[in-house]
Amino acid sequence: MTDLYAVMGNPINHSKSPQIHSAFAEQTDQPLVYSAILVPTDGFPAAVKDFFKGKGSGKGLNVTVPFKEEAFQLADELTARAQKAQAVNTLILTSEGSILGDNTDGAGLVKDLTRNQSTPLTNKRVLVIGAGGAVRGILQPFLQEQPSELVIVNRTFGKAQQLADEFKDLGPIAAKEFTQLADEAPFDVIVNGTSASLNGDLPPVPGSIISEETVVYDMMYGKEPTAFLVWASEQGAKTLIDGLGMLVEQAAVSFELWRGVAPDSKTVLASLRRQLQ
Ligand code: ATR
Repeated sequence: MTDLYAVMGNPINHSKSPQIHSAFAEQTDQPLVYSAILVPTDGFPAAVKDFFKGKGSGKGLNVTVPFKEEAFQLADELTARAQKAQAVNTLILTSEGSILGDNTDGAGLVKDLTRNQSTPLTNKRVLVIGAGGAVRGILQPFLQEQPSELVIVNRTFGKAQQLADEFKDLGPIAAKEFTQLADEAPFDVIVNGTSASLNGDLPPVPGSIISEETVVYDMMYGKEPTAFLVWASEQGAKTLIDGLGMLVEQAAVSFELWRGVAPDSKTVLASLRRQLQ
């Protein structure tokens, strides 16, 4: 029987995961079918059970909004990074029949940064803006790369402080107020993990945190550069990266976990980029 994989979410019709994983499967000659499943907001546990334990032969799932926390609760086992993220974007049926939860978002972002810059985070001063679910998902893989310093700022300061407390055993992380950034030298890497760009808003960060060498990353992406990347470019940043690569790389990490084969993410990213235009 062909192995089945899927992404579950609500809404789901705009998900690019079926296209990405089908391209990976074709490239690597893996006999699998990957689909998108719209799950009612109160129906996630039943849908997962049916997928893995029902008549089909479900082997792995991606999980997207709004079910990542529920997937975390529901998994029988968790990887260390999923445990820290308190969110799961990948479910794997193990050979023993249990469901393992992982979170590949942060590893995907690190891989995307690595492609664009050879030593992305090691010994670098890193600024992360935002303290929601998206940021929680990346902090463990970021700190694993051993930055010299990771500063986290957020509109609601208490949430940044909470994350800094939770992750301080993993590396040098400190929460700051936006106003304190005026005293900071330019950062090596800045990641915008807020959803401010969705409304065309900018997080209130001063231009002085950016130099020509600063690598500026926005976890959002779209047809046009995000408001944050446009602003960063105006401040003189030369390396501007949006979140499309992270989307492809987190999928590549999931695919490799499921199938044991690393796909060529570059060609898939290039074709998605062309489609966006
Ligand atoms: P996600 O899952 O995308 O992280 P989230 O958990 O709702 O979504 O988090 C959204 C993040 O964007 C938060 O850090 C939020 O700041 P608050 O914690 O203060 O709400 C941030 N954010 C959203 N809109 C923003 C804006 N206009 N300016 C600054 N930060 C914003």
